[in-house]
Amino acid sequence: MTGIRHLVSIDDLSLAEVMELFQRAREFGKDLRAWSHLCRGMISASLFYEPSTRTRLSFESAMLRLGGGVITAAEMKTSSAAKGESLADTVRVVGEGYADLIVLRHTSEGAARLAAENSSVPVINAGDGSHEHPTQTLCDLYTVWIEKERLEGIDVVLAGDLKHSRTIHSFAYALARFGANLICIPHQGFEMPNYVLARLKEEYGAQPLRVDASRLGEMAAESDAVYLTPQKPHQLSLFTDARGLRVDRVDAVYMTRPQTERHEVGDDKDSLEGYLTLGQEGMASEPLRNALLMHPLPRRDEISQEFDKDPRAMYFKQAARGVPVRMAILSVLMGRLELKARANENKKRLVEVVAGPNPCPNPTCISHTELRHVKANFTISSRSPLRAACGYCCRELPIAFVGCSTTRNFHSRDSAAAKQIRPDHLVFFRDEQEAESSGFVATGR
Ligand code: CP
Repeated sequence: MTGIRHLVSIDDLSLAEVMELFQRAREFGKDLRAWSHLCRGMISASLFYEPSTRTRLSFESAMLRLGGGVITAAEMKTSSAAKGESLADTVRVVGEGYADLIVLRHTSEGAARLAAENSSVPVINAGDGSHEHPTQTLCDLYTVWIEKERLEGIDVVLAGDLKHSRTIHSFAYALARFGANLICIPHQGFEMPNYVLARLKEEYGAQPLRVDASRLGEMAAESDAVYLTPQKPHQLSLFTDARGLRVDRVDAVYMTRPQTERHEVGDDKDSLEGYLTLGQEGMASEPLRNALLMHPLPRRDEISQEFDKDPRAMYFKQAARGVPVRMAILSVLMGRLELKARANENKKRLVEVVAGPNPCPNPTCISHTELRHVKANFTISSRSPLRAACGYCCRELPIAFVGCSTTRNFHSRDSAAAKQIRPDHLVFFRDEQEAESSGFVATGR
């Protein structure tokens, strides 16, 4: 569907639009009860295929404060999804008269994009698997902006389960665009995924420093600065100081819980023992003296309750600010407020192809479940060597051979013939057998 504005990825907003939304949110936040005229007569639908407290209730509160109404399927088990109805059909039904906007949370990566493709009303991604959670990122960035009065060039530590945390992924993309310095402190085995690191580097020129979780403890040492030596030796070249990165001031530490509901076969669940916990002691060092301690919540034991009264504790403020921030998002997407800032023109273009097997390697991508509705689309990261990512979940596609949908010939990925194929004629294959069984013929070998 064209002409409708969705919020599927944090990249759907330009940085100027983000700042304009924040100005609006600040106005809304001065008196949440003063805006009940803005979306009168409008209805938003909450479609939640996964549990939520903050995201759903703050969206619904925001809609009610704007004078609109809300319909909710908070337990999709009680909807016709339990009878096998597809997500595409569900959003189509809800968008045709039931509601003027859909807020969707789903277990599968890429679900919000697929919903947007099939919806006649705006779709907001309220979290899709381990992929993205753009409105949480807006609450997080808004909190940093309110507290630090700037977003450009800040120093942020991202800690915990960086592998599965969608809030971390969207936050990292946005921070990178604002030129932030990112220090990743993953729990062992739960490092930032390669597809996220690739996007950070290729699209925003950001290379997070990765350090061992034990190094955060060193920050607690009584010193003015901590030298963090990177875990990967080649990263050292990024820093002029041979001792590593001199960290004498961190603006924010963003902590996440183990996302056990998304842990996969192969994840070492036993290794959660020793998961980082932060409290007064962990936040005591000089570099962390003015650092905001952030968490999207819910928390388990990652932040001790004794820290809640500390002025650096931001997690309940992040949750509270969800209402004015989401009021701003809703009123813009429902056309009741206009953003004057220019849209994000650097967003990667989705290429849609006509043929071929689904090459996405991610078993929990929506493209593997909504077979009747999924479009074969992808983004190209580079043409030589050819690298492409799934248009739904952004995972890099394992490509060994490429075909042309018009000639029905296929070639090895890095051949000269492969480079000549028009992007929208590309068909990806993992191996020759897959190409041949799809009716393609080998040439030039
Ligand atoms: N932060 C967040 O998404 O919280 P909920 O899961 O409660 O919505």
